[in-house]
Amino acid sequence: MKEIPEFNVKYLVQSPKGGAVPKDFSEEMAKKALAFHRQLPGYRPTDLVRLSRLAQSWRVKDIFVKDESTRFDLKAFKVLGGSYAVAYLICEKLGMNLDEVDFTYLVSEEVRQRIGQITLTTASDGNHGRGVAWAAERLAQQAVIYMPKGTVRSRVENIESHGAKVEVTDLNYDDAVRLSCRMAQENGWYMIQDTAWEGYTDIPLRIMQGYMTMCLEAIDQMAQKETRPTHVFIQAGVGALAGAMVGYLVNKFQGHLPKFIIMEPNNAACIFASATAGDGRPHAVTGDLDTIMVGLACGEPNLIGWEILRDFPCGYISCDNFVAANGIRILANPLKDDTRIEAGESGPVGIGLLDLMINVDRFEELKQALEIGPESTLLFFNTEGVTDPENYREIVWHGKYPSREA
Ligand SMILES: Cc1ncc(COP(=O)(O)O)c(C=O)c1O
Repeated sequence: MKEIPEFNVKYLVQSPKGGAVPKDFSEEMAKKALAFHRQLPGYRPTDLVRLSRLAQSWRVKDIFVKDESTRFDLKAFKVLGGSYAVAYLICEKLGMNLDEVDFTYLVSEEVRQRIGQITLTTASDGNHGRGVAWAAERLAQQAVIYMPKGTVRSRVENIESHGAKVEVTDLNYDDAVRLSCRMAQENGWYMIQDTAWEGYTDIPLRIMQGYMTMCLEAIDQMAQKETRPTHVFIQAGVGALAGAMVGYLVNKFQGHLPKFIIMEPNNAACIFASATAGDGRPHAVTGDLDTIMVGLACGEPNLIGWEILRDFPCGYISCDNFVAANGIRILANPLKDDTRIEAGESGPVGIGLLDLMINVDRFEELKQALEIGPESTLLFFNTEGVTDPENYREIVWHGKYPSREA
């Protein structure tokens, strides 16, 4: 593990140890998820933005950003997972196979009659809860969402707008998950949680499989441009997203894997803590998990995700708020001809890190270790749009969380 203390960045770069190809994340599984999402009203692949001017300026071959800020007008990729898992749950209750059921049937009065009124519950910092609330609304079912302490009003309202009941707790994300779990047990509700633990893996696996749609779209969009990534940067909260992306890409590019780089905020870097511990086991971090990257403010790794993230990435990086804020500013102020991207706090940390690696001498060693150079085609996921407009303006207009100087 190395540290760049002036910038509060820590990193670990290693040769991936490798492992068995994760079969749950095969091309076939990804296509099933995509086939489901295609049936949802308003589905369209989100844009894969090519930042050619930025790539030119930063002397790399290509920079692509998969922009999830327009996913179903919900401003985040998360609904891909929640909707898929909820559909899976309903099919299970109906004794049917998800592959054979179409969405119109799932939202029909007949299904409602057959399964009756059910309540879905989850804990979420915003995006996942919104996805679950959206799915419950489509199915005319109820949802109760528990949010961590300090959740801003705009994120609560986004969920309430889908008719869900929201409770902002005084707990951190992981404790809010435990609360949601207890409430589900006490009230006979169904928990749709985006993290997995011993004994709770079915629903989170479906959620992760649902996320694969985003990666499948991105790789197809790159293939249409006759290219593929040499480096894939993915931010992690519990690591469900990153696990699903890496799992899919390991299946897709067997034998010619891109380099995977996992990024987290310093105060909630549980994948980083697990990777640096070096014993192969997941390690939790605790406390307030305070960061502007609230979607990444999770202290306990997702078990399914961790097993993939243990084996295949070559880089694990933990960094501070200003890196995400810089990413937001860079994407909001594109170079001539490049497309402007609106990124929320959990979306652009990879772009903020690349900026440091390209433009700050102190990061040269990290850049070299990751072999980033003129032949690199870099893929990023802007996983959310502006979900806290006030903070966005403060960051972009007034320079909140300024760059750290050496
Ligand atoms: C916008 C955004 N990006 C990334 C993530 C990280 O996903 P995961 O918790 O699966 O690592 C989340 C999680 O909520 C999120 O909301």
